[in-house]
Amino acid sequence: MAAEAEEIRGIGHSVKRKEDDRLIRGRGNFIDDVKLPGMLHMAILRSPFAHAAIKGIDTSRASALPGVIAVVTGELMAQHNLAWMPTLSYDTQAVLATDKVRFQGQEVAAVIAEDAYIAKDALELIDVDYEPLEPIVTPQRALEGDAPVIRTDKEDQKDNHIYHWESGDADATAAAFEAADVVVSLDTHYPRSHPAPVETCGCVADVDPATGQATIYMTTQAPHLIRTVFALVAGLPEENIRIISPDLGGGFGNKVPVYPGYVVATAASLLLGHPVKWIEDRTENLISTGFARDFHMHGEMALSKDGQMKGLRVSLLADEGAFHADAQPTKFKVGLFHIVTGSYDLPAAHVSADGAYTNKAPGGVAYRCSFRVTEASFMIERLVQNAAYELGMDPADLRKKNFIPKEAFPYTSVTGFEYDSGDYHGAMDLALEKVGYADLRKEQAEARGQGRLLGIGLASFTEVVGAGPHKDYDLLGIKMNDGAELRIHPTGKAILKISSKTQGQGHETTFAQIVASELGIQPEDVKVQHGDTDNTPYGLGTYASRSTPTVGAATAMVSRKIREKGRKLAAHLLEVSEDDVEFEAGRYFVKGAPENAKTIQDVAFAAYTNFPDGMEAGLEGVAYYDPPNLTFPFGTYAVVVEVDEETGVWKVDRVVAVDDCGVRINPMIVEGQIHGGLAEGFAIATMEQITFDEDGNCIGSNFTDYLIPTAWETPKFELGETVTPSPHHPIGAKGVGESATVGSPAAFVNAVIDALWHLGVRNIDMPLTSGKVWEAIQAAKAGASS
Ligand code: CDP
Repeated sequence: MAAEAEEIRGIGHSVKRKEDDRLIRGRGNFIDDVKLPGMLHMAILRSPFAHAAIKGIDTSRASALPGVIAVVTGELMAQHNLAWMPTLSYDTQAVLATDKVRFQGQEVAAVIAEDAYIAKDALELIDVDYEPLEPIVTPQRALEGDAPVIRTDKEDQKDNHIYHWESGDADATAAAFEAADVVVSLDTHYPRSHPAPVETCGCVADVDPATGQATIYMTTQAPHLIRTVFALVAGLPEENIRIISPDLGGGFGNKVPVYPGYVVATAASLLLGHPVKWIEDRTENLISTGFARDFHMHGEMALSKDGQMKGLRVSLLADEGAFHADAQPTKFKVGLFHIVTGSYDLPAAHVSADGAYTNKAPGGVAYRCSFRVTEASFMIERLVQNAAYELGMDPADLRKKNFIPKEAFPYTSVTGFEYDSGDYHGAMDLALEKVGYADLRKEQAEARGQGRLLGIGLASFTEVVGAGPHKDYDLLGIKMNDGAELRIHPTGKAILKISSKTQGQGHETTFAQIVASELGIQPEDVKVQHGDTDNTPYGLGTYASRSTPTVGAATAMVSRKIREKGRKLAAHLLEVSEDDVEFEAGRYFVKGAPENAKTIQDVAFAAYTNFPDGMEAGLEGVAYYDPPNLTFPFGTYAVVVEVDEETGVWKVDRVVAVDDCGVRINPMIVEGQIHGGLAEGFAIATMEQITFDEDGNCIGSNFTDYLIPTAWETPKFELGETVTPSPHHPIGAKGVGESATVGSPAAFVNAVIDALWHLGVRNIDMPLTSGKVWEAIQAAKAGASS
């Protein structure tokens, strides 16, 4: 008997995560678990200065330390043409510094030793002669005429400006502003933060000098892309490079870039003929690897006096750090920031963006979000909330008045995105109902009468995920398409090989569920393999909430190919014509005679034992998916806070989050993803921030200074769901979009401002420490009384 759909537990079932069996038993295989015979250990010497010329490096004392095998400098790397490497943004980045250091924590030299402790000890014996230069710690200073040029290595670079980029129609927007009754504006900074995965970055490079075979175990979210980059950088034949990304302890965009440590360890392994392991410590991870955000933004919104949005103008200055290394699709210098029109039917918009080099670590990664979409969501929602207060309108009403109506989808925004589907009113109505909005507003008025400061913050978002269609989306020219290969074995068990790379999102479960829904093979019987370039189809990997819309779709497509071949086999077994065979829940049956059936398992067996003449044996296939469009998850979040006027201390009373990511493959996993996004939204709103002192020293280089909320501080989340499938996606799923606004820091900021608006507080930047809130209250009061 074939299983019934309920028993198959495909799409829509909260199947427990298959991967957790091994992970919770300590049987995961993380990078530091990889131990190879003859393995050496590498440690990296990093710059203590943000900006300094290197006058000389003396490695003699370090080399003399017993147990040290080699000390590598930029000079040595330069002899192999490896002192610099390309970044994912068509810039270059120093592998080991030769001329000068450009941020605190930059890689200067590496020691390879018999064990990791000797390697670390030897770092202290390397003498570097630095001549400090003026550090540039803000992009504003970077663009001043007299600012020293950071990238003196680039012949054509005469200043610190990297790019200028625009989207939308400047003239139409200017006209909209001229005709407007009301204009609100906002200057804000979305601060630099760090994804801080529990597991730091690292690798074990194993290059066989005799065969040229390079097997590199690496913490990467994008193994195939990295393989190609390695082939291009090192000139190694691509078939000799095997990247294995084992279990990852989180990635969040931090494990997308190519880091110098990977390159040095690989070169060292090649030269020494031994495997070389390099594992970062926490501080190295926080000060030198891909940061997130760091956008200084100015926004203006034009409205009619009855609250109709007429135009949006945003300019931003991105602090890119010393090397422009963020992984954005080539066409879009600031990622998909131009989704900044959000959920609103805006007739005119214009976005301009400039990037600047500063003496900080490079990055700008897609931290729990699609490319720079969090920054965009934050900007528009802050503006909308401010517009509501200025107009004296209820913020929910203003949003509803301007939402793109359900009937308008597919909808093309003025900045050029075609939104696939949405029901923004539906998500907002559910959020308002769940939070009890009408009653809360009454309670707020009463609270004010009693001198209590109660605030209600809203944020609605539209994410853009699933990059993407080959016409517009590539990294380094490689199109952002992804693959899935499926093999059904004679006993009806399957192995699915995917180009994405799970870092904790549960792909081993959800992708097996897609196969289950398409073919009727239960998820337990579908082994999902990923993270090994020799054994999975090509694809650009997992970041930016793209796996489900790309690899999930490829999985559905390859399953359907197999289903069609299965139909031929079933017709042969049932001795009927193929047109008379129907398929449902793992069974092929004769039209009108459902008891006359063969299971997918029968068919799989026949594919190897009893197939018709002329048919190829086997039941397997591969599919590459080129999405026809991006997908657009959306939702509304509501946050209730109470602020203590005397101290500025505020606490979160409620967080209600309604998300719509179309069809949910695994509702439990989706909720987990949303919890993660919400925790991050709370974190950035309250405590997570990487700052720098005036000398460019990174404050936030450890978990005592860079604060990550624990379960103790994190508020309770109340979740809600609407379901608006993506019409072009084979299974109607969209990316989770949990990242949409990463739990919407905007909702938290808006809630605090909502509590304080009548005191005169108009703007507060994150993180909302009690001190900062208190200062805002005092400044507003002083302003009111002067
Ligand atoms: O690219 P990444 O895996 O980070 O993001 P995603 O594709 O948005 O999905 C995160 C996790 O949620 C994956 O395990 C997805 O398969 C799952 N998911 C789901 O179950 N249903 C959806 N509609 C979207 C995602």
